[in-house]
Amino acid sequence: MHEHVSLLRSNEAVRGLTLMTSRTFETFVMINMTIWFIVLLLCPSQLTAQFGTTPNIKHIVVGRCYNYITLVNPSLRYDCEEIWRQFEEAVVRQSSCNVTVEDYHQMFYAMPQTWPCDRFLFWSKTRALMHSYAAVVRHFWTLEDTLVGFMFNDLIWCGQEEDSGFDFSSCPEWSACRNHPVYSLWRRASQNFAEMACGNITVLLNGSIANAFNRKSMFGSVELDSLNPQRVDYVNIKVVTNLEGPYIESCNQGSIVNLIQILQSRGFRWTCIDNDQTLMILQCIQDPKQSSCQTCANSLLHRKSLTSN
Ligand SMILES: *[C@@H]1O[C@H](CO)[C@@H](O)[C@H](O)[C@H]1NC(C)=O
Ligand SMILES: *[C@@H]1O[C@H](CO)[C@@H](O)[C@H](O)[C@H]1NC(C)=O
Ligand SMILES: *[C@@H]1O[C@H](CO)[C@@H](O)[C@H](O)[C@H]1NC(C)=O
Repeated sequence: MHEHVSLLRSNEAVRGLTLMTSRTFETFVMINMTIWFIVLLLCPSQLTAQFGTTPNIKHIVVGRCYNYITLVNPSLRYDCEEIWRQFEEAVVRQSSCNVTVEDYHQMFYAMPQTWPCDRFLFWSKTRALMHSYAAVVRHFWTLEDTLVGFMFNDLIWCGQEEDSGFDFSSCPEWSACRNHPVYSLWRRASQNFAEMACGNITVLLNGSIANAFNRKSMFGSVELDSLNPQRVDYVNIKVVTNLEGPYIESCNQGSIVNLIQILQSRGFRWTCIDNDQTLMILQCIQDPKQSSCQTCANSLLHRKSLTSN
């Protein structure tokens, strides 16, 4: 919307220029060149538009909110319009690198949420697998199942200092600023989620990369420190590697050893398992030809020949 408006504005400016000064041929040529110059200037910003605020963000966010309170979790009562207002309040008229966790305070205040114990699933660098895991083991809750996670998943946004709208043409990288509007929201959401965690919690880590437990990840920098040993009974860690490897870290090798030390020093009880069977089966379903799936596949083939005889 905003982008569209600013394009219209510059078209008007160009037209104005043409009317004013097209008396002589020379100036006409000059203006023509100016127009081309402006067009050239505009083009790159149109090309990079996909890296700005997600188009239609208001419709998406408010729509997802209504979806959540109507279909996903009908017992909840939230004011979706109010949540949007608080979100906008936090983000617009700010330089795009200057939105802190505290700026979202009112928004989170408008959407309190609690969860039943024993269902919390944390993950780091295992997103695709986490999705199939949570889809199969239906009782798990991830951050993306909370209202805030559901509403803002996969979206990008940033404001601009002297404007009451979002910046749809470009937003900075997360790494480019300390108080990135997207990062700050997820930081706060992750912190809330971890503070609420209770009972047994599950942590899914990627054994095919170095630093499976990374102190700079959202889990390592925010969630772990927000877990409360008084509320959490067990931290059950599951280390999962790609079927084809590499096999870099495990429960007793690499950064996961550090994680276990931190948990122990803070008084958590914990378990850790490499290559959990359910997770391996899920991976094999997606890639049955892997050699590590052959036992599984063979028994399926066997069964097929049994049933078709
Ligand atoms: C950042 O925001 C704070 C308060 O919201 C304001 O005082 C400060 O001037 C802003 N800084 C920049 C660089 O925009
Ligand atoms: C582990 O991380 C790598 C690199 O990010 C990724 O390609 C792979 O899918 C991840 N493995 C699992 C099991 O999530
Ligand atoms: C919690 O985890 C521990 C250790 O894995 C297990 O013995 C216990 O049965 C679990 N409790 C629940 C309620 O899942």
